[in-house]
Amino acid sequence: MATWVITGGNRGIGKEFINQLLLKNHTVITGVRNPEQMDENHEFLHVIKLDVSDSKSVIEFAHSVSQHTSQVDVLVNNAGRMDGRWQSIDEVDADVSLEVLNVNTIGPLRVAQALWPLLEKTTDSKVANITSLMGSIDDCLSGKSYAYRTSKTGLNMITKILSVEGKDIDISVSCYHPGWVMTDMGGERAPVQPHESVTGLIRLIEMQTLEQSGRFFEYTGVELPW
Ligand SMILES: NC(=O)c1ccc[n+]([C@@H]2O[C@H](COP(=O)([O-])OP(=O)(O)OC[C@H]3O[C@@H](n4cnc5c(N)ncnc54)[C@H](OP(=O)(O)O)[C@@H]3O)[C@@H](O)[C@H]2O)c1
Repeated sequence: MATWVITGGNRGIGKEFINQLLLKNHTVITGVRNPEQMDENHEFLHVIKLDVSDSKSVIEFAHSVSQHTSQVDVLVNNAGRMDGRWQSIDEVDADVSLEVLNVNTIGPLRVAQALWPLLEKTTDSKVANITSLMGSIDDCLSGKSYAYRTSKTGLNMITKILSVEGKDIDISVSCYHPGWVMTDMGGERAPVQPHESVTGLIRLIEMQTLEQSGRFFEYTGVELPW
């Protein structure tokens, strides 16, 4: 069985990842901002404090991870935040935008950097970045959401760069759009249930190889335009 690290496992898509991975008998390490509020209890689940926007927190998280495991097979960079959706140019808040970029773009880079040595310890290790179709430049038809869209476009580029760097050391890196999912972020009108999205995502991540590293897929397996 493999060791998976999931960021933001306390609710939404991250929580569904944990439930499904534990049912498959994997070991799961999750990083959350408030571990004391997690009610899940499982022999193969480790909950560690993590704020992906804070470099010190990420370094301490990686240190704690290394005390639980000598290798990481899969890192899922799931933690993310919105920007106060559909803001147009006269509504954009530059300070909030920087916070969104910090969490959604630099956060996954920080965590990948800190866990890279543990990912290097095994062959065929994987990084899966949970991005969004809203980060697709080709698909930006309705505009708005400057910060969120840009943060996910940036994450897509980081995925590509990491995939090039990972190629020679057996680490594949791809990014995934989970669909419009019924979570706190997706809202009640979202057509996709977390269970359906995460079932698709886990299937794709399990199939992820070095040959198809550096690509952008929807949870259904459809490849998306950058
Ligand atoms: N739902 C959708 O329709 C949809 C569509 C496209 C992409 N996505 C992406 O899917 C991922 C998961 O989204 P979701 O729908 O599950 O959202 P969600 O229900 O709002 O959950 C977001 C998760 O990210 C965590 N998080 C936020 N900031 C963090 C930080 N600084 N450090 C650590 N954890 C942090 C939250 O923790 P707290 O509880 O502490 O805030 C929470 O666990 C995100 O990357 C999102 O952009 C979602």
